[in-house]
Amino acid sequence: MTRKDQIIKKALDIQIIDDRLTAIGIMDFDALRDTVDGLYAAFPDNFYHTFAVKANALVKVLTALRQYGMGAEVASPGELTIALTAGFQAHEIIYDSPAKTWDDLRTCIQNDISLNIDNLQELARIDRLMLEYPKSKSVIGFRINPQIGGGEISSTSTATATSKFGYALADDNNKQNLINIYQQRPWLKSLHTHSGSQGCSLELMANGVAALVQLAEKINDSIGHQQIIRLDIGGGLPVNFSSDQITPSFKEYATVLAAAVPTLFSGKYQIKTEFGRAIVAKNGIIITRVEYTKTSGGRHIAITHAGAQIMTRTAFLPKSWPIRVTGYLSNGQQRTAAISDVVATDVAGPCCFAGDLICVNRQLPKLQPNDFVMVHDTGGYYFSNHFDYNSLPRVAVYAVSGIEDNLTIKCIRRADSLQDVLRKM
Ligand SMILES: Cc1ncc(COP(=O)(O)O)c(C=O)c1O
Repeated sequence: MTRKDQIIKKALDIQIIDDRLTAIGIMDFDALRDTVDGLYAAFPDNFYHTFAVKANALVKVLTALRQYGMGAEVASPGELTIALTAGFQAHEIIYDSPAKTWDDLRTCIQNDISLNIDNLQELARIDRLMLEYPKSKSVIGFRINPQIGGGEISSTSTATATSKFGYALADDNNKQNLINIYQQRPWLKSLHTHSGSQGCSLELMANGVAALVQLAEKINDSIGHQQIIRLDIGGGLPVNFSSDQITPSFKEYATVLAAAVPTLFSGKYQIKTEFGRAIVAKNGIIITRVEYTKTSGGRHIAITHAGAQIMTRTAFLPKSWPIRVTGYLSNGQQRTAAISDVVATDVAGPCCFAGDLICVNRQLPKLQPNDFVMVHDTGGYYFSNHFDYNSLPRVAVYAVSGIEDNLTIKCIRRADSLQDVLRKM
């Protein structure tokens, strides 16, 4: 029995899933810890790894990641609040966002929270704030866009020529402008880029990081001493959504980086990373129940409770974000080709629009009402998604740890039923 089969069985035994279930998320905390251990083992001691909170903004998940040794990268006031609630200290947090308000910036600088500047207008605000708070311990850097090109998914590619993120390094005289900016501001001690994302090759990501390091060296040389002490190389390691295999691994990325940008590994700089998806995606699953099935135009359609509200990217951009599903009978046995006909299937969600589909025309053992569907690799950007979290949380989340007979499952976020909500009104 695979670990995922064991989780379903245990969840049935203790009645977390039954015929009333709509959809739940499950995070495997043991696997999460192994992932973070693997991350730290892949890079040397001058690397400090922060977690991109947007990928999974659940307090319990963040509390665990902090215990496992990670910091937090936040990109909105909400994420900052959640990170603070999870116990992260100011010096463990880095604030990135292209749309920081005066208030966001002031809060960071007043409270010694590090941040990356996105553009020249933001720099002008920071100039004023640094006069007000000259003793701030915030480590401040510029986010550059190395403009090395995007990967296969344009909506998440951040290093295209026209990306909305960061200071466009290859435009006009921008490189020299940035050197002048650093020369005039001794408090600019960091430099940042986030050049990768799902759909990018490791080599492309390394090109962006190489551009960052070259620029940092040039700035330091022009100043005559090492003013830039920290390089923030972002996150963006892609995840394999087509099988349980973990590829590319952090080790593979470290090997590509070491070959392309050896300076990162020399100990000269503190290196900060901001991985999100690669930390959590493969450590989470969604389980949802098949409410109804029908046949339309010869297609078998299984209607479930997991759709665009928690699988937003897959529903809206299905070609870029295909996801694996596995059917289970209501007794927890996997629905395999040995016990059911395999038919062309659409697995649909509960939302009231036609594109609300998890998979389309997929050959699957024929799902039946009250079956369960496991949606794999959904620990990041899926059930922790803001669309669900900020409105009416319908999807409870459980933490699983331990093995075999000692497997435990605990609720870490309750879901409100409509009755609960109406009662509170
Ligand atoms: C600045 C920054 N850092 C980190 C991340 C996390 O990226 P990923 O989840 O692909 O590792 C993102 C994603 O959008 C980002 O914009």
